[in-house]
Amino acid sequence: MFGEGLTKIHDESRQGEVLPAIVAPIDFDKKFYIESYGCQMNFADSEVVASILNSNGFGGTALPSDADVILINTCSIREKAEQTIRKRLTEFRSLKKQNPGLLIGVLGCMAERLKSKFLEEEKLVDIVVGPDAYKSLPGLLQQAEAGQKGVNVLLSRDETYSDISPVRLNSNGVTAFVSIMRGCNNMCSFCVVPFTRGRERSREPQSILIECRDLFENGFREVTLLGQNVDSYYWHSGQQNGLSVNDSGVLADNNPVTFADLLRSVAEISPLLRVRFSTSHPKDITDEVLHTIAAYDNICKYIHLPVQSGSTRILQLMNRTYTREWYIAKIDRIRELIPGCGLSTDIITGFCTETDEDHQDTMSLMEYCNYDLAYMFFYSERPGTLAARRYIDDVPEHIKKIRLQEVVALHRLQSLNNMQKEVGKVMKVLIEGDSKKSSTDWAGRSDNNKVVVFPKENFCLQKGGYANVLITSCTAGTLIGKEINL
Ligand code: 5AD
Ligand code: SF4
Repeated sequence: MFGEGLTKIHDESRQGEVLPAIVAPIDFDKKFYIESYGCQMNFADSEVVASILNSNGFGGTALPSDADVILINTCSIREKAEQTIRKRLTEFRSLKKQNPGLLIGVLGCMAERLKSKFLEEEKLVDIVVGPDAYKSLPGLLQQAEAGQKGVNVLLSRDETYSDISPVRLNSNGVTAFVSIMRGCNNMCSFCVVPFTRGRERSREPQSILIECRDLFENGFREVTLLGQNVDSYYWHSGQQNGLSVNDSGVLADNNPVTFADLLRSVAEISPLLRVRFSTSHPKDITDEVLHTIAAYDNICKYIHLPVQSGSTRILQLMNRTYTREWYIAKIDRIRELIPGCGLSTDIITGFCTETDEDHQDTMSLMEYCNYDLAYMFFYSERPGTLAARRYIDDVPEHIKKIRLQEVVALHRLQSLNNMQKEVGKVMKVLIEGDSKKSSTDWAGRSDNNKVVVFPKENFCLQKGGYANVLITSCTAGTLIGKEINL
């Protein structure tokens, strides 16, 4: 299950990081190189792709120049993401000139969005595979080897890859992503995801539990349950040909399984296994989920709850189906039921028709919510979305950017302030490995998702272990402390 292959990863939090994977002791005939862009779901998908390729005689390599097949798992969420990928493809072109047998494949959201247009636009791309068609990749590669271009962008109503054991790429051996559902039924008007990833479907719960248990038995100590909208996870035994078996004593036979049920079941695997999840939609996160988080020490007290805008009028145009007041009430409820819960969000500035007043509503909502972390973007119109069809992208780019700068500046102040408030507290830290700056320090994360660094003074501690750390100082992104005995 673990480790053949290596991938390069590109997202806000892990930019440029390339970690060696554990190499499985198998001789492969051919080698693939995979690079992933965009959301965590894409990184999880690349691990499914690596597994499919390993089972079909392809081993991974860290070097594009060493590969027989280069794959790019792509993101379409904003225009800039697509530009980055096109640039990368032009870089791979020169490799193809040196090695004409090299195959280049485009996977994921951009493949789905552009379909065979990709082959016309990017002449040197050999295969184009959408997010629900990865099982056809070996066949398409064979086809491409025979000189035929291969495209499969069919979206599925039931593919969840539940029968595939992902190969852990770039793994630190401690934390892993586990996909629990695919697709999205929320038609947020700015978003291309419902078009590129298709209808929402939940993965059979027992396969999720088996994957999480396997990870735990192999030394992993944290799983992040992934989906575009995890709170609408719902599975019942009549739904698919799978089982609804109760292995952990929590899921009962034939009962429907909600996200709260699933969270409980994963948390029951072991108190030593931390459970995180992402992403939650404010309209769907229930009190039952909040009570479940509060009830289990090992479910991390941290919720990513994208707001997108603080203006009810803009939220309506975005088709987010909640108002500013409703969102604020949800934040109040989280703080009431889970005191000290870490909170993060996504914000878009300059959506169609956004006025200065709307923007000030976003700023004041941020003041109120006091997020620990925010991912902030200016609006990028995506072809085919509801907004592109219905509204005019009428906020000038320089205004979008000025508003974004204001939002970023406010967030920086708030998050630094929140970090400073942690000084003096004792935090339980899961050790993920050496700190980036020094091999004499450990780095890990607190329950509420803050990076914590502390000296390796206690020789009994190791990667994957827990330490109680007294926080003594901080920077904008890191808490610094020392281990203490409680
Ligand atoms: N423009 C800018 N940001 C977008 N996002 C999604 N679509 C767009 C777009 N068209 C942001 C949202 C979402 C996050 C993953 O990306 O904030 O929550
Ligand atoms: Fe896109 Fe909205 Fe679905 Fe998130 S919930 S993936 S923003 S459509």
